[in-house]
Amino acid sequence: MTAHSKPLTQRTAWKALDAHYKKLQPLHLRTLFADDPKRGERMTAEAAGIYLDYSKNRITDETLKLLVQLAEESDLRERIDAMFHGEKINITENRAVLHVALRAPRGSSILVDGKNVVTQVHAVLDKMADFSNRVRQGIWKGHTGKSIRNIINIGIGGSDLGPVMAYEALRHYSDRRMTFRFVSNIDGTDFAEAVQDLNPEQTLFIVSSKTFTTLETMANAHTARVWLLKGLGGDEKSVAKHFVAVSTNEAEVAKFGIDTANMFGFWDWVGGRYSMDSAIGLSTMLAIGPENFSAMLDGFHQMDEHFRNTPFDRNLPVLMALLTIWYIDFFDTHTIAVLPYEQYLKRFPAYLQQLTMESNGKYITLDGNKVDYQTSPIYWGEPGTNGQHSFYQLIHQGTRLIPCDFIAFDTSLNPLGSHHDMLIANIFAQAEALAFGKTAEQVKAEGTPDWLVPHRVFEGNRPSNIIMADRLTPEILGKLVALYEHCVFTQGVIWQVDSFDQWGVELGKVLAQRIIPKLEDKSESEPEHDSSTNNLIRRYRRSKS
Ligand code: F6P
Repeated sequence: MTAHSKPLTQRTAWKALDAHYKKLQPLHLRTLFADDPKRGERMTAEAAGIYLDYSKNRITDETLKLLVQLAEESDLRERIDAMFHGEKINITENRAVLHVALRAPRGSSILVDGKNVVTQVHAVLDKMADFSNRVRQGIWKGHTGKSIRNIINIGIGGSDLGPVMAYEALRHYSDRRMTFRFVSNIDGTDFAEAVQDLNPEQTLFIVSSKTFTTLETMANAHTARVWLLKGLGGDEKSVAKHFVAVSTNEAEVAKFGIDTANMFGFWDWVGGRYSMDSAIGLSTMLAIGPENFSAMLDGFHQMDEHFRNTPFDRNLPVLMALLTIWYIDFFDTHTIAVLPYEQYLKRFPAYLQQLTMESNGKYITLDGNKVDYQTSPIYWGEPGTNGQHSFYQLIHQGTRLIPCDFIAFDTSLNPLGSHHDMLIANIFAQAEALAFGKTAEQVKAEGTPDWLVPHRVFEGNRPSNIIMADRLTPEILGKLVALYEHCVFTQGVIWQVDSFDQWGVELGKVLAQRIIPKLEDKSESEPEHDSSTNNLIRRYRRSKS
């Protein structure tokens, strides 16, 4: 039996890491920095314009060596190659996993079932660009002859979170004459608020759904159709001018009544949470224009190439993934805070939640066995500095160890006086405070009364990464997203889970479908669930009568 075919916890590197953890755990970052004055310069890596300072992690060179060995024993290199070559690594759905093909340069070749998918990708990109240009230039007219000024993306999960995040992140580059809204929730308030001040004559809906069967999206799309027809005098022909679809399911798109000529396709080898750079990004392209969208794809591709070709000890996504595994599986931490010090990235943590947790929130391995180790942490976060005045207390002095990813840019897109210096000073200060804390001696030396000293001590030794780039551009956003995509991939390879399926979301969907008619049932029939669900259904029925 080779090392890599063994269960994870039986591997040589895992056992060595276990032993190593026991020695390293008591060591303080203060000592690690004092013993190695160049640590802050040495434990950094840079690629494709993204700089990673990982020196404030509770690691030594030995830790890194063992973590890299773990990646090798997990066949990471072979698994990366398998993904890039279009092998069907999503085994539970028998699908290739080729979001990297979405940003492969024109003229390159990646084969799936003997077909070059890059050609198909660029055909769709060209169609998107043509459509975006026509809408942006006012050539595409609505039913009454007016140009389109409002774009509403209707989608959920991967068909929403990427588009929302990218729109917010790249707002600086967007056409400010246009309004962009995103409707995802089945809660009618989401739709009602999105359209309440809009003129249907100038509104275009993008119905985005890989399957075109998702309950929330279909319900919202039907409501949008009703709203549009009501606003435009009920002429069914208006739908063609005000609805386009992004989907892999042509038959369902046609059934909904959208002309398939106005459908932008993608493929089953694009996972929903890996789809923001496919046609699912149509709203992004409409906002920032085809050239900026291309720059974003180029950024993704540069990070893909870095991931594919760089030795693991200098490979940004691999390093970040290995650090996660170190904390989750050895320090028994449960969460990772993602803290962008960039207002435009306010939806980045929400986007990452689906990417990370829907991918690796799994307890069954590829072999169908239950894991005997922890898998995906909970990712969460808010933009800085707001979080500092909210939950940072717990990160600094709480009982839980919470590794943090700080994200910042050298240059602000909105330079205002010294705002940016103050912002950056805060991020550096937070990482410094978390790592080094403040000792009782230091607190006493400030003249603090003895009784207050324990409250004002910061024990420190709390790890963080700092991720920095020059400025937030479409290209850098692509790199940042690809960084996390490949980090998630690497984690999944080591945890031996299928990072590309999502069976865990199915049961709730099925039960909801069963409950809906029971809520609408006017008879007094027994709901036939457990006593709690029955009681809740009866209570809700009473509220409607
Ligand atoms: O319910 C989970 C999920 O399947 C996600 O994986 C996906 O991104 C989302 O629903 C939306 O699916 P669709 O794009 O098919 O509407």
